[in-house]
Amino acid sequence: MTGGPVELRDIGACVFDAYGTLFDIGAAAAKCHDILGDKTDALTDIWRSKQLTYTWLRSLMGDYVGFNQVTADALDFALETLAIDEAGLRDKLLVLYDELDAYPEVPGVLRDLKAAGRYTAILSNGVPGMLQSAVAHAGIGDDLDAVLSVEAVGIYKPHPSVYQLAVEELGVAPERICFLSSNAWDAAGAAHFGFQVVWVNRFGQKPERLPGKPMAEITNLAELLPLLSA
Ligand code: LAC
Repeated sequence: MTGGPVELRDIGACVFDAYGTLFDIGAAAAKCHDILGDKTDALTDIWRSKQLTYTWLRSLMGDYVGFNQVTADALDFALETLAIDEAGLRDKLLVLYDELDAYPEVPGVLRDLKAAGRYTAILSNGVPGMLQSAVAHAGIGDDLDAVLSVEAVGIYKPHPSVYQLAVEELGVAPERICFLSSNAWDAAGAAHFGFQVVWVNRFGQKPERLPGKPMAEITNLAELLPLLSA
């Protein structure tokens, strides 16, 4: 990462992580605040961290199941951890997870990128059905050229074969892909693979101590366009 202005050069595609980058991972629990009360944020945090942990562990174990299953398993763990046992709540949260809200600036940024002639795509752990549902709910389908899922390679980020999928599907060399993720570990994995990475540090996290450094750090996607002016 650099301290001064950064220019991303010769970008052939802007590729976005989905959950936490385009879609608000806190939105499902927030919509059940009437039931969850002061456990709302804890549920979001435990659910998300367990969901990611399961993706990494299953990748190491060589036992891939779709992100919908991992998400349900992680939710079950989180609900039991917090001793929440409300009839119908589990199913409601999973339905809401398929319809997460986009972060406020996302539709406008994608529209501006398309208007500027940029190629846009999602590269996500989500299974295709979850991703299509979230894209449709957010109304951003017309401004995305491709929606790519790890389902095609059967392993989760940050395995290099996931990032390679974007190279092959989009036909764009790694160094010409601008990859955007709010997940610092995903940003590290993508940079290590060879993408030009912008870390969308929405949550004010500290940098990961991992190989692979983002070229730029922004706080939300509205800050992306000026970086692409080159
Ligand atoms: C994704 C997770 C990492 O969308 O947020 O791939």
